[in-house]
Amino acid sequence: MTHTILTFPDPLLKQKATPVAIINDEIIQLAKDMAETMYAAPGVGLAAPQIGVLKRLIIIDVSAKNEPPQLITAINPVIIHSEGETFEEEGCLSVPDYSANVKRHERVVVKALTLAGQERIWHAEGLLAVAFQHEIDHLNGVLFIDHLSPLKRQLYIKKLKKRSNR
Ligand code: NI
Repeated sequence: MTHTILTFPDPLLKQKATPVAIINDEIIQLAKDMAETMYAAPGVGLAAPQIGVLKRLIIIDVSAKNEPPQLITAINPVIIHSEGETFEEEGCLSVPDYSANVKRHERVVVKALTLAGQERIWHAEGLLAVAFQHEIDHLNGVLFIDHLSPLKRQLYIKKLKKRSNR
């Protein structure tokens, strides 16, 4: 079942999510719903708080359109190493019609649990590394616009207000 994706400035997007204590049917269903929601949007990543569930679960699929899908489900993800720097354009399903360049690490090592409850480590670089950082930020109540200069962020908020007044 697809869910409504919360958008800025929904206060739930500013909340810190809590770790998943046990991987039960509810969590497995949540991951399924998140994947359906992400592919329908379409997007390359989604964090549970974006559909209003404050749990530390993210999904990512950065595979190209002509490739078979490669869905990553990461529970309680932690960045255990990061290096290098990159400055790429990012967007977010919770920040519609806006994108901006964000400074991120070029490479990250992420440790998380899979849906089967096994620990897994990803050595990510490029687009996947950025996606991990972006989605893990969501678990801490951080949006990509929070990484922008105050001036740039204000410009976005102004644009948003104008649109909702229309
Ligand atoms: Ni996002």
